[in-house]
Amino acid sequence: MQVATTKKALIDALLHHKSVGLVPTMGALHSGHASLVKAARAENDTVVASIFVNPLQFEALGDCDDYRNYPRQLDADLALLEEAGVDIVFAPDVEEMYPGGLPLVWARTGSIGTKLEGASRPGHFDGVATVVAKLFNLVRPDRAYFGQKDAQQVAVIRRLVADLDIPVEIRPVPIIRGADGLAESSRNQRLSADQRAQALVLPQVLSALQRRKAAGEALDIQGARDTLASADGVRLDHLEIVDPATLEPLEIDGLLTQPALVVAAIFVGPVRLIDNIEL
Ligand code: PAJ
Repeated sequence: MQVATTKKALIDALLHHKSVGLVPTMGALHSGHASLVKAARAENDTVVASIFVNPLQFEALGDCDDYRNYPRQLDADLALLEEAGVDIVFAPDVEEMYPGGLPLVWARTGSIGTKLEGASRPGHFDGVATVVAKLFNLVRPDRAYFGQKDAQQVAVIRRLVADLDIPVEIRPVPIIRGADGLAESSRNQRLSADQRAQALVLPQVLSALQRRKAAGEALDIQGARDTLASADGVRLDHLEIVDPATLEPLEIDGLLTQPALVVAAIFVGPVRLIDNIEL
């Protein structure tokens, strides 16, 4: 496995490659990231993973505790990527990625990036779209892999490549969960054992909705919100039933007849957790 910390080293490492799969990450890697690598490994000759904690997608362009405290553990991450079968790791620092300061020209995500997660985190998806566009231009992958865990991110990236005609195939990968059902996330490291137990109400509420749908029963979305809002140690941010491609809220009178996604975010202590389920 080669590790490139500069754009030049990355571009040199990518000369003479056949098909390339890209897995963009911010590090603090876990089994969710490993499953993206596995999917990329199965479909490409060369697998590139990037590790870059992107200040643009954090509050105040990274001038915040969430950015400063974001777990950074390069050695452990490299070991996981090597084990998962990555060929090239791109791990630039901020100056390499944004020489001379943050960019003036950004990718703007519009209404798909300002609702739901984007409403709680203004500017977040513009920062994501901008760094992902840069990674696409540097790596020029045939395929790029994104976790369904961040369903809105997948929808934003699909529009990024459609609207800017970026020639890359976007491959969504299913959510990886712990044995207790909680979706794997770098933020889970910040939960105490008690908080983790409290957080389980999130996957439980979502899978209860999925069971009701499968049984042909009516979906009580407000009831699901109430369960989360009244759960011990939990603060509800949002729970919505949306169109998976546009993230527009769906009106559901009675039975659901179209593909739908339930997306939710809660706070457990200071930690914000997101999850979603397809119906
Ligand atoms: P990060 O949070 O490191 O996530 C990297 C990728 O791993 C994302 O596509 C995310 O959806 C996926 N992922 C995380 N947890 C997962 C899980 N439990 N199951 C499946 N996939 C999971 O998302 C980002 O970084 C950044 O926004 C990035 C796209 C790298 C741009 O900076």
